[in-house]
Amino acid sequence: MAQDMRSWINLLDEAGLLARIKKPVDPRTQMGALLWQARDRALLFENLPGFPGWRCLGQAPGDVSLAPLAFGTHRDEMVPEFVRRTERLGTTRMVKTGPVKEKITVGDQVDITKMPIHQAGIRDGGPYIGSGLMITKNPETGRRNISFHRLQMKGPQKFGILLYPRHAWANYQMYEAQNKPMPVAILIGHHPMYYFAAATTTQYGVDELEIASALLQEEVELVKCETVDLEVPAHAEIILEGEIPPKVREPEGPFSEFQDYYLTGAGMNPVVNIKAVTMRHDAIFKNVQNGTEVEGCVYHKVPMSAQILRRIRTVGGFADVKNVLVLPGIFGVVVQMNSRYYGEARNVLLAALSSEYQHPKVAVAVDEDVDIFNYAELLWAINTRVNPQEDIIVIHGAKIHAMDPSCPEFGSPGAPGWHRIGGKVLIDATK
Ligand SMILES: Cc1cc2nc3c(=O)[nH]c(=O)nc-3n(C[C@H](O)[C@H](O)[C@H](O)COP(=O)(O)O)c2cc1C
Repeated sequence: MAQDMRSWINLLDEAGLLARIKKPVDPRTQMGALLWQARDRALLFENLPGFPGWRCLGQAPGDVSLAPLAFGTHRDEMVPEFVRRTERLGTTRMVKTGPVKEKITVGDQVDITKMPIHQAGIRDGGPYIGSGLMITKNPETGRRNISFHRLQMKGPQKFGILLYPRHAWANYQMYEAQNKPMPVAILIGHHPMYYFAAATTTQYGVDELEIASALLQEEVELVKCETVDLEVPAHAEIILEGEIPPKVREPEGPFSEFQDYYLTGAGMNPVVNIKAVTMRHDAIFKNVQNGTEVEGCVYHKVPMSAQILRRIRTVGGFADVKNVLVLPGIFGVVVQMNSRYYGEARNVLLAALSSEYQHPKVAVAVDEDVDIFNYAELLWAINTRVNPQEDIIVIHGAKIHAMDPSCPEFGSPGAPGWHRIGGKVLIDATK
């Protein structure tokens, strides 16, 4: 049996980490507030007035401390286990059909406004899909890419989309240069390993579905789309098929983003036109709440911590790094290590600040005796093991994440060259 969102719901239920909400909840006006507050368990909404037949899962997991359930590990082992499972990519296999093909709607019959898409933040520009994993292809190599993209509901068959300058954006740039629309398939609702895989940034050209397979420790079954030349997971809840037209930009945003601010990413961004929806006959919708320390952040933290751990363990040939955790706000990272030589922690922190990920600008190294999941212990280590004139190093003029609101912005979303410039800091809090 393929692992999917339903097997994950069962696992959460058995672990006592699922609340079934039977009272009516309006996705547009109430669900965001409930998801925001539910940090210790997942919510399965079973009564959605105005959206007959739909159920919706959220905050699954809503905190990084709940994510180890998906890996079957203790909290401290989760990130090293992610690294271990993804040492080799997994595999995918085409199958003729699957549950996601139970109901197919095409063309004018498609109406995404009938889906229980929630409004996450009160000042968001309307309802947004935060759980959409977009599959695209490089038009030259045919290699697949999967990534999260916020999707602003704009009409029955139309979304606004934020394409941060990374792999999906690179694919879109190639289509745009040929004045062709980019075919896309958007996955909504699956096992959390698909979400961790989609948020894994690695070499351009690596198929994140093969990462999902490695994380799940099973082959991923794929089916062909109906209206675009793409393949999608057969056991997803919902797939939206469509295309991003070239050279079209429309106002998009604001959106309550991962760092807890509304002000980044909004502007003239591309749009997605939806041509078909395929889904299970009783599909369960998935709403991901964004903002700090909620579900969206878990999908940032776990793969980012793992990719950084994998990388910094190689510093100097072999560094004795035990664990890594991305910190609240996503622009900071703590490294738990055994620093064997004077200066080794600095080398490791430099690598942590220049990984595949653009986010980290603050990197802290601590010893093995510090519990990196306990922020009080982290602050204790900084306060008692740091001599500021020796142990804090500021790097000036680095390229930092374009959605870090603390530094000056250059260019704008939706256009080539969007970025920010600012400082980065290393804090060696080892003894
Ligand atoms: C919850 C969540 C929401 C995200 N939203 C967006 C988004 O709206 N636009 C975007 O370009 N990237 C977004 N990202 C980031 C990318 O999906 C992610 O970094 C991914 O690894 C990029 O894939 P790529 O490296 O293959 O381009 C989001 C990530 C997460 C975890």
